Amino acid sequence: MKNRRLVSIDLGSAYTKVAVRRDWNGESDLLRDLPLASDEVDFCVPSVVARVDARGGTRWVIGSAAAEQAPGDGVRIYRYWKARLFSTDPRGHVRRDEMGQSPHADAGDDDYERIAVEFFRGLRESLEQSPYGADIASSAVRVCVPRIDAPDMDARVGGILHAAGWRPAHGRVTVYEPESNACGMFTRGRNATWYPPAAPFTPRAGRSLHLVKMLEPEGLLQALRRMAGSFGVLVIDIGGFTTDFGYVEFDTSFSTDDWHRPAIIQQSYELGIRELDQAIYDSLDEDAQREIRALSPAEWDALKVDLYRGVPVTLGSRRIGGGEDAGRTTEALRAFAERVIAVRDTFRRDYVRGPINAQTLTGGGSMIAPLHQAVVQALATDEDARVYDLLDEHEPRRTLDGRGGTVREEEIQARARRNQELVRGGSAIGGSSVFFE
Ligand SMILES: Nc1ncnc2c1ncn2[C@@H]1O[C@H](COP(=O)(O)OP(=O)(O)OP(=O)(O)O)[C@@H](O)[C@H]1O
Ligand SMILES: [Mg+2]
Repeated sequence: MKNRRLVSIDLGSAYTKVAVRRDWNGESDLLRDLPLASDEVDFCVPSVVARVDARGGTRWVIGSAAAEQAPGDGVRIYRYWKARLFSTDPRGHVRRDEMGQSPHADAGDDDYERIAVEFFRGLRESLEQSPYGADIASSAVRVCVPRIDAPDMDARVGGILHAAGWRPAHGRVTVYEPESNACGMFTRGRNATWYPPAAPFTPRAGRSLHLVKMLEPEGLLQALRRMAGSFGVLVIDIGGFTTDFGYVEFDTSFSTDDWHRPAIIQQSYELGIRELDQAIYDSLDEDAQREIRALSPAEWDALKVDLYRGVPVTLGSRRIGGGEDAGRTTEALRAFAERVIAVRDTFRRDYVRGPINAQTLTGGGSMIAPLHQAVVQALATDEDARVYDLLDEHEPRRTLDGRGGTVREEEIQARARRNQELVRGGSAIGGSSVFFE
């Protein structure tokens, strides 16, 4: 095991989340109340970079400060640069996300690296000045990246981190988003290590993972103990750029503390909410499209929350999302949900060899109520595979009651809050886990 203290950065195409583990057995915590976070969620930093050219020179800003800029003279806004940085076909992305992105902000490959460096540098500087400054100074960093065919992920991200003044972690510099998210879900941020006792005449093992202590006693561990053979967990994350699948098969026959790390089977598919955004954009007339292009990224993100809930919004002098628009939005959401289910079936067919006993939906996409509902409904048709809904408001009480004894209101609230954090920040939380040490 290599890194005692670790910061993990889940570089999302839409929002970046950061977590810290302060010791081998400390809990993985999301960094909240971040100065660069969006107004809506205080641990989500918009993955937006803006280059502002003024008479005094060029200035780069990131996060909410960049997302609040409207594209215009001297302001270039870069959104979804992660998709272009990691994609095997960056040019193919240009058509797929026009909103909030300066029309001339189509950069070459080198430029995406430059933008990434500016982002990571801006993030570091802002965190160093925040109450998390001491954590940043004393920790190495690991980055969550999509599980797609991109060569030399570790070396590339390591180079970007160096250039931006971060200290890359020993061992793995990157983890894949599906595995870190799955790990975040099944541990809920717990970390436990130990020194296993040495068998006679064998050398003593070094610090090792204590997985049983990392599983949730009232949830997963209980379910596992009721099963014979193996127990499979599938975590599905609907993000801005990709939909990720992480599948973990636990061996339920373990009875001792000597339990091996299970393999996480994983894949990311290029299917994300930005395509839904683009579908909505394409369905509007030219005037409305022009109005949308003039919005700052933050304005569009705030509008779309209403739009996807079926609430009409005002755009300049007009209203969109009502009447016929509403029908089109519903249709776009339905079509998108179908695509999510289709890739889930593809993943299952191509990768999953064991049972699926529990499934969980995460990511910003799962915050969109009609989409969440449609996907959960489709998942629930499989009777053996229970859906664990982290957004279910009754989940905290039900689960804690199952533990027996009296349950305090604060415990219920703390669990509800953790559930919310896991939906959006599971990958950052899991990315700092000792599981990857
Ligand atoms: N309540 C909501 N209503 C509508 N859209 C939402 C809501 N919450 C989040 N989103 C959108 O969901 C999308 C995905 O968010 P998320 O934070 O999961 O993306 P990401 O992690 O940056 O993407 P990726 O992991 O694919 O790189 C974003 O476009 C975000 O604006
Ligand atoms: Mg994500």
